[in-house]
Amino acid sequence: MSTIIDMQNIRKTYQVGQHHVEALKGVAFHVNKGELVSIMGSSGSGKSTLMNIIGLLDHPDTGTYLLNGRDVSKLTGDDLAMIRNQTIGFVFQSFFLLPRLSAVQNVALPLLYRGISSKERLATAKAMLTKVGVGDYAEHRPSELSGGQQQRVAIARSLVGNPSIILADEPTGALDSKIGQDVMDLFKHLNREEGVSMIIITHDPHVAEQCQRIVKIQDGNIIS
Ligand SMILES: Nc1ncnc2c1ncn2[C@@H]1O[C@H](COP(=O)(O)OP(=O)(O)OP(=O)(O)O)[C@@H](O)[C@H]1O
Ligand SMILES: [Mg+2]
Repeated sequence: MSTIIDMQNIRKTYQVGQHHVEALKGVAFHVNKGELVSIMGSSGSGKSTLMNIIGLLDHPDTGTYLLNGRDVSKLTGDDLAMIRNQTIGFVFQSFFLLPRLSAVQNVALPLLYRGISSKERLATAKAMLTKVGVGDYAEHRPSELSGGQQQRVAIARSLVGNPSIILADEPTGALDSKIGQDVMDLFKHLNREEGVSMIIITHDPHVAEQCQRIVKIQDGNIIS
């Protein structure tokens, strides 16, 4: 099975005033293509820090990171942004949809820099909304949608650029358990049908046990 994420000895320290916070203390982490992995750990253990590094939103202080076999630890600026845009889709607990845009406009955003016409972008976005079950809400603004519908729109946005990896940070955290399970079923379906690799950070053991593998992080170290 081929590896899509291969990290060795990743360290990250934040400096706050005089204090150093060692958020990651030499983490090794790998994900195979098509895997569905959950990351669990208590608050402050380093989960979001790791996800930001995996998602090329932040740099480790030291360590190596091969993404699809390519060393991305020394890339900067435009190269990084391009790889991120083409490879990774993000889903967050609080959805992060732009309030003034309709659902379909939100979903079309990641396609903006791909040199395709506005009409084509919106058509692709509409098709993705339909695929995740909210095609009828394309013209609604986020405030006109329920939490579960907003998260589906956010998932459509994360998928529209055809990423090979989805990173989700507490994607069901703001949803009640029934709607959270619907979102989880959607993730599992997309993982199975499209072969997208997925990493889901969660506090919910019921969410984690539906993944193929659970990675536990404690105090900046992966413990299992
Ligand atoms: N930008 C930052 N500046 C300074 N310290 C930070 C920053 N981001 C995170 N930290 C610290 O790094 C440690 C790990 O934080 P991180 O956000 O990765 O935890 P987490 O596991 O995602 O927690 P939660 O479950 O609460 O989201 C914590 O001690 C936190 O206070
Ligand atoms: Mg976090």
